[in-house]
Amino acid sequence: MQPLRARRVLLGITAGIAAYKAAELARLLVKDGADVQVVMTRSATQFIGAMTLQAITGRPVRDSLFDAQHEAAMGHIELARWAEVIVIAPATASTLAHLAAGTADDLLTTLCLASTAPLLVAPAMNQAMWAHPATQANIGVLSGRGTQLIGPAVGEQACGDQGAGRMQEPAQIRGAIHDLLMKSGALRGKRVIVTAGPTREAIDPVRFVGNRSSGKMGFAVASALVAQGADVTLVAGPVALPTPGGITRIDVESADDMHDAVFTSLPGAAIFVACAAVADFRPARAAEQKIKKTDETLVVEMIRNPDILSEVSASPARPFCVGFAAETHDVENYARGKLLAKGLDMIAANQVSASQGFEVDDNALLVLWEGGQQRLPMQSKSRLAAQLVELIVDRFNAQTATEDS
Ligand code: CTP
Repeated sequence: MQPLRARRVLLGITAGIAAYKAAELARLLVKDGADVQVVMTRSATQFIGAMTLQAITGRPVRDSLFDAQHEAAMGHIELARWAEVIVIAPATASTLAHLAAGTADDLLTTLCLASTAPLLVAPAMNQAMWAHPATQANIGVLSGRGTQLIGPAVGEQACGDQGAGRMQEPAQIRGAIHDLLMKSGALRGKRVIVTAGPTREAIDPVRFVGNRSSGKMGFAVASALVAQGADVTLVAGPVALPTPGGITRIDVESADDMHDAVFTSLPGAAIFVACAAVADFRPARAAEQKIKKTDETLVVEMIRNPDILSEVSASPARPFCVGFAAETHDVENYARGKLLAKGLDMIAANQVSASQGFEVDDNALLVLWEGGQQRLPMQSKSRLAAQLVELIVDRFNAQTATEDS
């Protein structure tokens, strides 16, 4: 049996004694049926010959950004898109630092930056280098972005030291690649719409009613959906966030604009995730000119905005609908109420306060669906989003299976 048949693995090899073990890893992956493309750093070629890896994988090894012949066959951006997973084994302290900083000064780091594929790193270095706060800080940054770490193992090192820093064994790395590839790609070919950020409801040409949503959670959810192979349209309110790779972004201002953008994108969508903090009300009339402070008080009449999520959930070709609920108290009760009232398939609830929920990097969620629930503990929004998307995939698949039977 070949469990990884035709799965596309980009194997990065950097300069360490453990580089010789990468040949065994490549062999195991090829045996599992994977298409393996090796990319080596220049210094890695001092530790293991490119010819060995070419013979094992049946593909020429790439080691340069500026190789006209290789670039003509498959350019580095194409190669970045080709990869379903990028594995770096061994990953040196220097490579981890480059990845954390987002520098792109050789082919491997450029590919990592240009790819939306999940990244798995197997660090290998001297135990003091591993324990150094600089390396640990880099690992923290990478984990926060969703990079998966395997190892390092503890034991005797090539330099004679004892401690953590040995590269994890190829069989273990292969297991981690299996897990990742089995989980990822579950939404290949599925269209997903995500709303994110706040909306702005105009009072006059210079003032608006808004809220404190940063859009971080919605953007993290959109990235996690792309990592599962989904074709994602992100409808974003006004936020200061860059567009994650592989996403179609539509920028909007008001709830009405967001409503229109969602309904334009809706035909054919399999899943709708409403992360946006949509203003429930808007000024009945936006003044055409700037309002002057002529009186002691100002009364702005507010009217209800369309409830985008409820309308999508009630639409004829209804996608799988996921809502968010931000509550200051009685989180579970209010969230269950919204699950029922809006006819949702799933709701992700979080407690908000002055210091939690909005404008911060970490969060925790209570995810509810009919007949079940799961708590996702406090962690970075990118990790949380990846876990939430795993739950969405599970429930979506369970529902599709019931509908098909
Ligand atoms: N939502 C929406 N359109 C709106 C309002 C909310 O799509 N006009 C979506 C949000 O994106 C979120 C969920 O509905 O997924 C939140 O539900 P909502 O009832 O609006 O929550 P709150 O505004 O917190 O409600 P309340 O003020 O009643 O607690």
